[in-house]
Amino acid sequence: MDAIRAITERVSVAQLTGPDITQEQKEILFKAALRAPDHAWMRPSRYLTIEGEAREELGKIFYKYQAGREVLSPEKAKKIKNMLLRAPLVIVGITHLEEHPKVPRDEQLLSTGAGVQNMLNAAYAMGLGAIWRTGAMAECEGVRKALGLNRDDVITAFLYVGHINTTPKPVPDVELSEYVTAWTGETS
Ligand SMILES: Cc1cc2nc3c(=O)[nH]c(=O)nc-3n(C[C@H](O)[C@H](O)[C@H](O)COP(=O)(O)O)c2cc1C
Repeated sequence: MDAIRAITERVSVAQLTGPDITQEQKEILFKAALRAPDHAWMRPSRYLTIEGEAREELGKIFYKYQAGREVLSPEKAKKIKNMLLRAPLVIVGITHLEEHPKVPRDEQLLSTGAGVQNMLNAAYAMGLGAIWRTGAMAECEGVRKALGLNRDDVITAFLYVGHINTTPKPVPDVELSEYVTAWTGETS
């Protein structure tokens, strides 16, 4: 698919299904992610793949920590346990923060964000669907620990990737002039 088309027409797809994402498709996704702009080439981004039974394992961990926070109805308990089964592949996008004299933490986080966006576009260009999610589990200390993260790691995304089994929503109309203005001199 033409790159401009992929970038301008991509939409998020929440209804995803198998079959599994192939090794070749995953390599394209990660090559795209690792072409994100990266000030001083710090390489702050890490990606974990959650596939197959690992999705159920992590779902149990989600349930354990969510159940420790609130009383869960059977429906909500099931929803949390099955959360990661909504796609054959879930990629955890992580920013490993380091001190740098010229690169603040925000820039390191933005670099991973750009990597995740590159994966969304690459998935779309390959005819796959994807959606960037975060939610409470991205901040949960128990989940972070189970994923092997330390205090300098930030979960930037749970990127769900799979095959599209419904008609994706239309590309929303955007009035560019509402967001884009030519600056012509100092504002008084
Ligand atoms: C950092 C970040 C976190 C997000 N977290 C969630 C989330 O947890 N759940 C969700 O439904 N959408 C989340 N979204 C929004 C979707 O990824 C998506 O952008 C939104 O549904 C709009 O769809 P579109 O990308 O087709 O415009 C998040 C987006 C970003 C950038």
